[in-house]
Amino acid sequence: MNDDIAKVLIDEEVILRRLDTVADKVLADFEGNEILVVGILTGALVFMADLCRRLPVPLQIETLSVASYHGGTESSGVVEFLDAKLPEVKGRKILLIDDILDTGRTLKAVKDKLMTMGATSVKTGVLLSKEKERAEEVEADYVAFEIGDEFVVGYGLDYQGRYRNLPFVGVLKEEVYSR
Ligand code: XMP
Repeated sequence: MNDDIAKVLIDEEVILRRLDTVADKVLADFEGNEILVVGILTGALVFMADLCRRLPVPLQIETLSVASYHGGTESSGVVEFLDAKLPEVKGRKILLIDDILDTGRTLKAVKDKLMTMGATSVKTGVLLSKEKERAEEVEADYVAFEIGDEFVVGYGLDYQGRYRNLPFVGVLKEEVYSR
């Protein structure tokens, strides 16, 4: 699997160290309030798990599934909610977690949905934020790393369902896309 990687952008140690800082910010912002962490599947899974373990306060974890990418590297432009039943969020202070902020469509759509469903507040956290113009006006409250506008995998992020289990964030070799 590592043979498919052209370069490592952010290694495991750097990611985990940075999460300590992100967690401190979250703890300060949510001080005294129970946190409802909502992770967007499947990409947020690894980031959410590592971040939550750095939040030693009462919290609950929920997930929801959306589709905007369909196995490739380009956004389809439409965010579709896939769950028959979404988490109960009325009156809750939410920390919404996603793997990466790209066009902004996913984070904007999910944040808006949670607010419409009666959440008291929605703070957003992403592992990665691509430096580019967004299709939607949205930025995350917590960004672990800013990256350039290139397709990345690892630490939860996939290409055609693979590479999520890599402990680092990296870029695939060109040849992988033509297989
Ligand atoms: P948007 O465009 O809605 O994108 O901000 C958010 C979702 O798109 C996926 N995405 C990526 N997945 N490498 C990936 O593996 C990438 O470089 C990438 N860029 C966007 C991801 O699912 C994210 O939640």
